[in-house]
Amino acid sequence: MGLIKIMEYDKWLKEKSLDYKDGVLYHAGINTIDLAKKYGTPLYVVNEELIRKRYQHLKTFLSSHYEQNEIHYAVKANSHLAVLKILKSEGASVDCSSVGEVYACLKAGFTPDKIIYTGNMFTDDDFRFAVKNDILVNLDSISQLPRLAKIYAELDKQKDTISFRINPEFGAGHHSHTITAGKDIKFGILDNQVIEAYSKAKNLGFKSFGTHIHIGSGILDPIDYDKAINKYFTIIMKLADRLDLKFDFIDYGGGLGIPYKQTQDPIDIERYLDIILNPFLKLMNKEDFGSPTVKIEPGRYLVGESTIILTQINTIKDNGYKKFAGVDAGFHTLVRPTMYGSYHHIISCRNPNQKKEQYSIAGPICESGDILGEARMLPPLREEDYLAILDAGAYGFTMTSVYNSRPRPAEILLNDGKSYLIREKETLEDLFRLQKIPKHLK
Ligand code: LLP
Repeated sequence: MGLIKIMEYDKWLKEKSLDYKDGVLYHAGINTIDLAKKYGTPLYVVNEELIRKRYQHLKTFLSSHYEQNEIHYAVKANSHLAVLKILKSEGASVDCSSVGEVYACLKAGFTPDKIIYTGNMFTDDDFRFAVKNDILVNLDSISQLPRLAKIYAELDKQKDTISFRINPEFGAGHHSHTITAGKDIKFGILDNQVIEAYSKAKNLGFKSFGTHIHIGSGILDPIDYDKAINKYFTIIMKLADRLDLKFDFIDYGGGLGIPYKQTQDPIDIERYLDIILNPFLKLMNKEDFGSPTVKIEPGRYLVGESTIILTQINTIKDNGYKKFAGVDAGFHTLVRPTMYGSYHHIISCRNPNQKKEQYSIAGPICESGDILGEARMLPPLREEDYLAILDAGAYGFTMTSVYNSRPRPAEILLNDGKSYLIREKETLEDLFRLQKIPKHLK
């Protein structure tokens, strides 16, 4: 365990491109109150520069460890086409978990060779879409292999590369729902199935091979990868020895966490890369298992800190026991606090230095669980003030809902001192556009 080096609060905010000028919160150098007034609230506010910065940082470190690498951005974290285009322009590849995400990436201009499709519980239609579009499929079960092969034949396509998601049995993550390895977990194939999987793939005529793991999400201490990586390499060596396989790529999945709290250290990238790459580099020196590309699939790390949600206070309620600040964002806008008990730091858009009071920040959804932050110390708040909910760039907008018939919010992008509307606020009419009324009810 490294020493905890708690960052100064102002510096911690600055790392997320936030600071106060004359008592007003600025994001990427832009006045947040002006943004809230111009675009309305709740409002997702994405800082382009921070996404680029995180990507470049990770890429530089990774390349200094091993040149032949590819960063596949995990699209499920944030699938906005503008975000995809930003990462594309940086040279990123992408990791998709559904046909919808593959579609988004093709629409954003990614070429098929940059896309890996790691689904689970694939349907034949999923396979058809992937094979038609020349997308590499990373399988999740041996039983899917003959079905995929059949679809290659049906579409008269050449079988090229195949990969399996391996479950290395040691997982990690910020919540039990985000730990994705272990014998009782639905993902991937276990050690005792890998020989069968890859020999079947070989026999079916696949020409080249990759391997994949993803052990979980929201990992801040790189040591959490250690056991899984050791197991992964035992499996890789077994495959290389017994089946004489050469690997096109070795994929480590994503999982890198971000400091949602000031008391959390950012993940030590150097140490993470040491842990995941040392066993690989050692083997490269003495064994012949090809010269694989190293792939990683970060989602949260690249986009999580880029985004705040601006929300307006409509109700201050003191019930004599507890003080609530009621806002227009709720778990339909950001579900992570309710779904995982996740902490998102919440700050006031003005007067940060006044003597703090304790508030629960409550959304408008008709459920007691609609609390975005419990017992938060904030300057005295008034109705019509604005708050900013931090670190909402990953699994924020992509997990929004229209529960309680509340339309989704607008999204804006900040770049070079300017703001751009990148998604309009949904209208009430949008909520009902796809519904149909049978004749007898008209
Ligand atoms: N690769 C695969 C195959 C994945 O399943 C995931 C995330 C990633 C990469 C990216 O993981 P990341 O680097 O973002 O940790 N909704 C949850 C997170 C679920 C993550 C699912 N898989 C949350 O809000 O915390």
